[in-house]
Amino acid sequence: MTAPLADKHVVLGVTGSIACYKAVDLASKLVQAGALVDVVMSYGATRFVAPLAFRSITHREVVTDTYDAGSEFANNHVALARRADIIVIAPATVHCLAKLALGLADDPLTTTVIATQAPLLVAPAMDAAMYDHPATQENLDKLRRRGVTIAGPAPGRLASGLMGMGRLLEPAELVGHITATLGRDGDLAGRTIVISAGGTQEPIDPVRVITNNSSGKMGYALAEAARDRGAQAVLVTAPTALPDPPLVEVVRVQTAAQMAEAVLGAVGRADALIMAAAVADYRPATAAEQKIKKTDAALTIELAKTIDILETARGDFVKVGFAAESENLAANAADKVRRKSLDLIVANDITDAASGFGADTNRVILIDRELRTEELPLLTKYEVSHRILDKVKALLPGTDGDGNRVG
Ligand code: CTP
Repeated sequence: MTAPLADKHVVLGVTGSIACYKAVDLASKLVQAGALVDVVMSYGATRFVAPLAFRSITHREVVTDTYDAGSEFANNHVALARRADIIVIAPATVHCLAKLALGLADDPLTTTVIATQAPLLVAPAMDAAMYDHPATQENLDKLRRRGVTIAGPAPGRLASGLMGMGRLLEPAELVGHITATLGRDGDLAGRTIVISAGGTQEPIDPVRVITNNSSGKMGYALAEAARDRGAQAVLVTAPTALPDPPLVEVVRVQTAAQMAEAVLGAVGRADALIMAAAVADYRPATAAEQKIKKTDAALTIELAKTIDILETARGDFVKVGFAAESENLAANAADKVRRKSLDLIVANDITDAASGFGADTNRVILIDRELRTEELPLLTKYEVSHRILDKVKALLPGTDGDGNRVG
């Protein structure tokens, strides 16, 4: 679970578009994530990128010809269809979409698609006029109705030089769509989890803010992990440098007050709230309307307390807080469990470089309502997220303590 692509068989279909170069990067990312990637290329794709490029990355045979007597595919044309955990077509051309919609099977890729039980994810790439054509839109609707996941395309600059809809999603985004599709029937399917992330910004004047060093990485990893187990993840985020995680509902806020409004509004439909954000405890009592000019005198800014979102949030949902501490980690965290009536707190020592702000890893202690503690080893933030979600699952309303639904 903590490595959603480990040992997964991914059939990567590549059809003839200039965006084929991105498919090489996608194959690389999938292999690095532990997947076994079988690439199937259309004839057009082989004119843009050589099959050797994919073979060098995947260390596996690349299928290009139905009738190549030397290939496994010619001997058993449903072998890939049978072993696939997911089929991903990226880029999918307008012609490929039409063939899929019709159910044709005139090349190794379409033959594999029609013979599989595995989920199909299609990432279109084409000129905007081709994308907008009613035939293409009808084909996409038909595929959606059949349960096919359509990822993208994105708007932007196209190969023609024109701006419009038709860019292939970036490989990192496609990986998010793939892990989400693989996990859509996961153990948190049907659950809604609200997660906060990032450091709030409290305005001093139109150009200055009080903020903190939170990168947002922990909250974003939690949202991705929840999504990859089938949950609807709602990410209420203060400004960060991170891209929006695909298939996560992202609500952007700046201040503690805005975060409070968004979180308290969203928890009504939530099964769990996880406050990973570093919420400012104080804000300037008044934000100056104009930029404060420099003088020779010292400047004092009066601070007012912000609302404690976690303490205020009440309802029938699992409540998880974070405690970023620089001393007395366990004692301070346990105090917060009581004060904020939490089901679980995730405590980390921010003086440890591997667990501090901005790191991709975290070493945390989980403390529950009964003050039972579990120390986790140093893990990636995505792995930590799954450990937290395991605990959340066991505490969810309507479950028996092992996370199995009752009633
Ligand atoms: N939190 C919150 N609203 C605030 C401040 C904190 O919801 N105004 C949440 C954080 O998101 C975190 C938890 O409360 O999940 C603990 O945050 P932390 O800053 O460690 O605790 P504080 O209550 O602010 O206590 P202190 O700063 O004194 O350690």
